[in-house]
Amino acid sequence: MNPTTAAFRVDGKVCLITGGASGLGLAGARALLDAGAVGVTLVDMNPTTLASASASLQSADKVSTFAGDVSKEEVNKGMVEHVKERWGKAPEVMVLCAGISQAYQVPLAEMPEEVWDKVMAVNLKGSFLGLKHAAAAMLANPEGGKGCSIILISSQLGLDGVPNAGAYSASKFAVRGLMSSAAQELGPKGIRVNAIAPGPIDTPMLRDWPAEKRDDLCGQCTLGRFGKAEEIGQTILYLASPAGAYANGSTIKVDGQWSKWC
Ligand SMILES: NC(=O)c1ccc[n+]([C@@H]2O[C@H](COP(=O)([O-])OP(=O)(O)OC[C@H]3O[C@@H](n4cnc5c(N)ncnc54)[C@H](O)[C@@H]3O)[C@@H](O)[C@H]2O)c1
Repeated sequence: MNPTTAAFRVDGKVCLITGGASGLGLAGARALLDAGAVGVTLVDMNPTTLASASASLQSADKVSTFAGDVSKEEVNKGMVEHVKERWGKAPEVMVLCAGISQAYQVPLAEMPEEVWDKVMAVNLKGSFLGLKHAAAAMLANPEGGKGCSIILISSQLGLDGVPNAGAYSASKFAVRGLMSSAAQELGPKGIRVNAIAPGPIDTPMLRDWPAEKRDDLCGQCTLGRFGKAEEIGQTILYLASPAGAYANGSTIKVDGQWSKWC
């Protein structure tokens, strides 16, 4: 194997992915398995969608699932325990993909408190709790956190706000703040922490949007198209693998140049 190909391998690594039953999380799982991951645990809300996601990966012996709501601390604790039991060691790659968009587009002056709280609970608190429990388990490894990687999913709206998406945008800016603090705490211990800021990607999250809103989003990308989930899956692989060994505290923008000034 030539050195460049070898740099994008994750042979023997155990990976834990929240939001793994769909979209970017599932694409990340596929890329990590293709690149040699020995075990991948998918976490999501619904056991049935988890089962069909797992079946779609064609590596049944290398995939396990764990159902729960990532905004709850006991679920995050439980998923890390599950990984240790199922794969015999703590996760070495943690991908925090679970997320929701706002229930509907709404101006801040009319934003119901419950919408704000729900978006923050899943996107921000869920990311914090997953990072917390994964980092603790990584640090407890015999080699400390050496060779481990934590990847958070921000958004192009975590780089610049837009009208009527204030809760979502605030949650995704905050994910980058969490990532930056974590990278400074954990980088010296061998755990790299980075974020990806995807632009509009063709996943179930966007498929329910009205066609004109989707076209609008697409029209703002200089590449003139939606991104594909696998294009983010491959970015996840870069950050998880030795290819990304010098990346820490970075936000990688993969948005077809939706954002122009960040
Ligand atoms: N698709 C895009 O255009 C886009 C752009 C930028 C950022 N993102 C972010 O990427 C991440 C993945 O989104 P996606 O496009 O794959 O969407 P998706 O809806 O296809 O997948 C998200 C998954 O998260 C799961 N989830 C939601 N709430 C959860 C909870 N409380 N506990 C456990 N699982 C939960 C969902 O069930 C779903 O399977 C999200 O954080 C999203 O905000 C997406």
